[in-house]
Amino acid sequence: MSQVLKHILVVGSGGQLGHALRAASGEFNEFRFTFWERADLDISVESWVLERITALKPDIVINAGAYTNVERAEDDHEGTEAGNAQAPGYLAKACKSIEALLVHVSTDYVFDGALNRPYTEEDLPQPLNYYGLSKLKGERAIDAVFDHYYIIRTSWLYGTFGHNFYNTMLRLAKERGELFVVNDQFASPTWVGLLAHDILAMLRRKYTEGVSIPCGLYHYTHEETASWYDFARAIMDVHAMNIPVHAVESGRFPTKAKRPTYSKLDISKWKNATGLTTFTWQEALRQCYSVMENR
Ligand SMILES: NC(=O)c1ccc[n+]([C@@H]2O[C@H](COP(=O)([O-])OP(=O)(O)OC[C@H]3O[C@@H](n4cnc5c(N)ncnc54)[C@H](OP(=O)(O)O)[C@@H]3O)[C@@H](O)[C@H]2O)c1
Repeated sequence: MSQVLKHILVVGSGGQLGHALRAASGEFNEFRFTFWERADLDISVESWVLERITALKPDIVINAGAYTNVERAEDDHEGTEAGNAQAPGYLAKACKSIEALLVHVSTDYVFDGALNRPYTEEDLPQPLNYYGLSKLKGERAIDAVFDHYYIIRTSWLYGTFGHNFYNTMLRLAKERGELFVVNDQFASPTWVGLLAHDILAMLRRKYTEGVSIPCGLYHYTHEETASWYDFARAIMDVHAMNIPVHAVESGRFPTKAKRPTYSKLDISKWKNATGLTTFTWQEALRQCYSVMENR
């Protein structure tokens, strides 16, 4: 085993990204990991965040926690604000006081979808829903405290664990035998297993290999664009489930939270800075499937 180089604390680790980071951590022996779920640390309680993190003194904090229910966020502004807008600022303060790096994850829903090309880090955020607004406030709360951070915006996260589109489509396909899926919203589905791996691979590049990767804001997803319909069709194909998938307009499923019609993220900055290999969303889906099959 290589020498342990850095201690990484993952907070909010009970969700899909937290699980994926735990699964990927075994490949990164140069790091020592501590995983805290909500019961170990509620990131929306400032005094607790400052106390527990400064006592542990990790070198790096990865925030995998957030208030992610986009629909409920429209009604629960207080809860959303606490988890997504304020908590990141508390984490930044704690990190600053112990000179730790903060890695925080944000969302494509900071954009309104009005562009006709992939969104870069320079494009103006203009959230359409309360979840997106709260996540944008969280980004700004971190930036107001210090600049020793990576904020990684991603889109349409899925994996084999937790609540996500992939698991929902598989369940509905088995229950109903056919699917009706929205065909007028476009982005790139992101396999959480690759995101988790690549966050740690980026940290390896930085700390083990000495590659200079400037702190700041990055977009991370896979190559190429899909609609939810395209994604559902591909999930059925990869699982060899021969059932009808019908394309419908989003108006068929009215939601309280407005979603951007187009939120593809441009990942050039991430690719150039990290040099990590990227995959199309179809390749990532096949990787997710093969991990599931080989378990
Ligand atoms: N899911 C997506 O499609 C998507 C897309 C773009 C960006 N993102 C971002 O990616 C990151 C990871 O998302 P995910 O899909 O892995 O989310 P997830 O599966 O919903 O998990 C979120 C985790 O955060 C925990 N949490 C919430 N509030 C907390 C608090 N105050 N203190 C401690 N833990 C708390 C939750 O715990 P409880 O279960 O106890 O509430 C849950 O375990 C988030 O920043 C999210 O905004 C997600």
